[in-house]
Amino acid sequence: MTSPSAKHRLPIVVLISGDGSNLQAIIDRAADNLPVEIRAVISNRAGVTGLQRAQQAMIPAHVVDHTRFRARDDFDRELIRVIDRYRPELIVMAGFMRILGQDFISRYAGRALNVHPSLLPAYPGLDTHRRVLAAGERGHGVSVHFVTSELDGGPVVAQARVPVLPGDTAERLAARVRAEEHVLYPLVIGWFAAGRLKSSGGKVTLDDVTLTQPVEPLHTADERHASIPARGQ
Ligand code: GAR
Repeated sequence: MTSPSAKHRLPIVVLISGDGSNLQAIIDRAADNLPVEIRAVISNRAGVTGLQRAQQAMIPAHVVDHTRFRARDDFDRELIRVIDRYRPELIVMAGFMRILGQDFISRYAGRALNVHPSLLPAYPGLDTHRRVLAAGERGHGVSVHFVTSELDGGPVVAQARVPVLPGDTAERLAARVRAEEHVLYPLVIGWFAAGRLKSSGGKVTLDDVTLTQPVEPLHTADERHASIPARGQ
């Protein structure tokens, strides 16, 4: 499959804190038909696997180590400084585990996405797989949402569900959820890159239709592998 031409690629910066398996999924799709240019990867932790993935893909990789800043605002300011050097049109949080302040959130309002391992608004925060198992839930999943000042609370664009199976451990459940993240997140990023997905004033539209609930686009095998149109097509 031919890659979309460079001039039609949406510039993005990806924020990570760890393994970067979602970053890898985006890198892989960008090498195929996802029309984004990953201009930089920024981690708040040094030495994480996600940084190696970026380097392997020849993407500029930076560490903005939160432990080196006394105040959260100082960390946010430095993060903004590094991000803005790359002039991204979308900020992609992919396992980025820091809470950001209001200035950061306002600056990138409507152009920052996050992936979260639960069916939001259920189970915001950490340790979702263990909490889902402890509650005896039969189902679990992943959400992609726009970032707002509320932790894991911005408008949810899309979700994918997975069953909780007998004998599941948090690790097995996490792996099943993560496999869905790797399909769902690039798909939603592709919608944004194609100009199909917009967020403004708390309202999210997909193809000019206001979303009143998250879409679940991975229901059929065909949709899982749907091609993502280039920007402007
Ligand atoms: C993913 O499961 C992502 O949903 C989660 O961290 C993991 C990162 O994995 N994010 C959050 O919990 C954000 N609240 P990765 O580093 O392999 O992409």
